Amino acid sequence: MCGIVGYVGNKAATNIIISGLHRLEYRGYDSSGVALLNPRTSRLNIVKTPGKIDDLETSLAAEMPAESTGATLGIGHTRWATHGEPNRVNAHPHLSRNGEFAIVHNGIIENYIALKSRLAQEGFEFVSDTDSEVIAQLVEQCYEGDLTRAVAATLEMVEGTYGIAVISVHHPSTMVAARKGSPIAVGICDGETIVASDVSAIVQHTKQVIFLNDGDILTATGDNVEVVSVKNVPVSRETTHIDWDIDQIEKAGHEHFMLKEIHEQPTAISNATRGRLVDSEGTTKLSGMQMDPYEMARIDRILIAACGTSMYAGMVGKNYFEDFASIPAEVQQAAEFRYRNPIIQRDTYMLAISQSGETADTLAAVREAQRKGATVLGVCNVVGSTIARETGRGVYLHAGPEIGVASTKAFTCQVSVMAMMAIALGRTRRLSTQVGQRMVREMMSLPEMAQAVIDQEEDIRRIAEKYAKAEDFFFIGRGYMYPVAMEGALKLKEISYIHAEGYHAAELKHGPIALLGEDVPVVGLVPDIQGKDKTIGNMQECMARKAPVIAIATEGDKDIDAHCDDVIRIPPCAEFLTPIPVVIAEQLFAYHVAKIRGCSIDQPRNLAKSVTVE
Ligand code: M6R
Repeated sequence: MCGIVGYVGNKAATNIIISGLHRLEYRGYDSSGVALLNPRTSRLNIVKTPGKIDDLETSLAAEMPAESTGATLGIGHTRWATHGEPNRVNAHPHLSRNGEFAIVHNGIIENYIALKSRLAQEGFEFVSDTDSEVIAQLVEQCYEGDLTRAVAATLEMVEGTYGIAVISVHHPSTMVAARKGSPIAVGICDGETIVASDVSAIVQHTKQVIFLNDGDILTATGDNVEVVSVKNVPVSRETTHIDWDIDQIEKAGHEHFMLKEIHEQPTAISNATRGRLVDSEGTTKLSGMQMDPYEMARIDRILIAACGTSMYAGMVGKNYFEDFASIPAEVQQAAEFRYRNPIIQRDTYMLAISQSGETADTLAAVREAQRKGATVLGVCNVVGSTIARETGRGVYLHAGPEIGVASTKAFTCQVSVMAMMAIALGRTRRLSTQVGQRMVREMMSLPEMAQAVIDQEEDIRRIAEKYAKAEDFFFIGRGYMYPVAMEGALKLKEISYIHAEGYHAAELKHGPIALLGEDVPVVGLVPDIQGKDKTIGNMQECMARKAPVIAIATEGDKDIDAHCDDVIRIPPCAEFLTPIPVVIAEQLFAYHVAKIRGCSIDQPRNLAKSVTVE
């Protein structure tokens, strides 16, 4: 989705903005631009271009006046088109009519048509098809010498969501930023302030970050930041220390972030479980849940709201809560939640699962559940993200930054975290110390297990090569493998552009089997779990229709070869943990298929890392 980087301070803004925009590339975008305040002419110079940041750099070199490149105030943007095609004119920043104000905007202004037609009647001309341009014109119209007040007056008129940064020729050392529904982080350095929609654009400069809340307006110079509400009441925001390293957001020798993140899973899972598995008591300790055993024992229903990969992790989690803690659990696609008028009872708890902590639909589900009186816990990866802050309690994944658009380590850590939550809840109910201990010990071997799958990458790559030309795929599984089948299909389709569907193995013959044939490979998920034999039966049905079958099975399962064409083997493990090694095998398979097909793996077409619009 769109990204913002703004700089005010004592250094040349261009490099800082461009390197920040590079860091935001993973979010997905189709055009970009930069506005700099030219210190000699006191004019705002803007360069924009469709395409990649490399194209923007070329355009900057060709079009930006030389003295502007030394500017110490500027804003930059990566745009993921919503209103108007991805071309130069629609790219941000947008200038106001008189050229005195430049803005960048993430989010959607819902009443832009009404605002635009009113402004047009008053003589404002619009050059783009975007909703965002109205903000630039409104700031100009509202300006009476105070940029912050002009922004506040503008924001009182707009409906929708925004993260914005605004600069003006009248304030050569000031940047104003604001948020409602679209994140803005503020990096505090010595003599410099960096505003960005994502901390990954900031951490190389400073680890001290303020996160704006909805309704906050920031006025920043190099030496000072002030935050007020739209009504101009000063508010204080805590500084958060970000413990991500720059190395963590580099590729570290891997060809793609996705591959790096697949390989990081043994470490990510260690970090997610470190200090949380209590062998002696056969339980887990998750202080972020902020719950005593009495409260845990009272929960009588769990609602899980999430999207995409996080939703599939939630479906695994549902099984955990029901199997280990006997708590009825339900997974809802987060976008459905607020429009369905769901039933929330007194002891209903909601889990909002989101790697980014910024997914618009999941955030909306959180707010709706809170409005209805539910206790909501976040299961997020990004520290300080909106969902993490608004839920106030929950469990961080500690998976480290996930940059590749295809979610990998977040899934395995989400599943690990929910297993730990379910064990803790189960221990306040029917789960015995002995069973708890066995589960905790099994979880301790997860990093090793993840590594054992990664060690087979070359075999998986060979199998990927054999099937990379297929244009349709099915993934089938049952029980714990049903959501993992959907996740495997999602991984393959999003990065290789192969049409892939994840189905419950039993459902195949209720329709989809009509599509099978020799060009449609089926991946059967058959580790040693309950129901495996039935899925093998379904794989036989596929082979009878000439579909090539790839099995993901447990090492040592000699019989499986008779039921498939190729086998990817995972190490033996407890049934409840099988989603982790199986999904890693699927991730590696999807990665190598996409690589063989020459796809843009870290930034697949049309996709954004964090979906901050409905
Ligand atoms: O940040 P979130 O976990 O809330 O993101 C949810 C989905 O947008 C995300 O999982 C998406 O499906 C990924 N591209 C899947 O790889």
